[in-house]
Amino acid sequence: MAAVVWIGTSWKMTKTLGESRAFARSLAAAPVPEGVQPFVLPAHTSLAAVRDCLPEDSPVLLGVQNAHWAPEGAATGEISMRMAADAGARLVEMGHSERREQFCETDDSVSRKARAALDAGLVPLVCVGEPAAVRDAGQAEEFVTAQVRAALSRLLAEEVADTIVAYEPVWAIGEAGRPATRAEVSPVTAAIARESERLGGGRGCRALLYGGSVSVDNATVLLEDPHTSGLFVGRAAWEVEGFQALMAIGGAHAARVDI
Ligand code: PGA
Repeated sequence: MAAVVWIGTSWKMTKTLGESRAFARSLAAAPVPEGVQPFVLPAHTSLAAVRDCLPEDSPVLLGVQNAHWAPEGAATGEISMRMAADAGARLVEMGHSERREQFCETDDSVSRKARAALDAGLVPLVCVGEPAAVRDAGQAEEFVTAQVRAALSRLLAEEVADTIVAYEPVWAIGEAGRPATRAEVSPVTAAIARESERLGGGRGCRALLYGGSVSVDNATVLLEDPHTSGLFVGRAAWEVEGFQALMAIGGAHAARVDI
């Protein structure tokens, strides 16, 4: 059976409508390698336009980078899960360290969002990851395990299998980030897999992704981590050529681990 390798990108706060459509049209024209599950999280302003540029049977899953847990109402600047789904989202990212740092996202709000996403028929994509000081103190596994436990605390055991977790060490993300080595990643992804299996009554989360300074140079090595089922990419996938190169690496990995 072929393994599924998830290759996805959040565009963060980049791309106008025109830039989003150009990316989506190129993506629509390119074949997706066998075994790869691509996903793209545009800005809210571009989501529906990107959906409309992709064929109806496109394998590319779309999502949002954030949505509120409440069904509707007085929450200025936010969108609901239902609004996200209506505009084309199948996935909802939550708990990214940029949102934890800049927008006061907490473990509690992440768990509310995970609950609300599932209630709206969307897949929660929960980001977890330790700051540098926590890693330096030797507490990365403990810290991230606690984040996973909190994020999934409002879910039934059987719902854990509908959830994606992305391990994104804070010190590895963005321009100032240092790419993580496989040796740094593996003990933490093993801990996440253990915790999600415990919470899921033996069945872990649907996918466990790694993110933070992923590039074509380190993607192959990172995918070799036995607990990692895909990559969640920022800068290296913001040009469609970069995204395609990473999908090709994902496809080659899927073919290698074919059983
Ligand atoms: P980066 O972003 O790949 O640009 O480091 C990763 C992320 O924030 O998910």
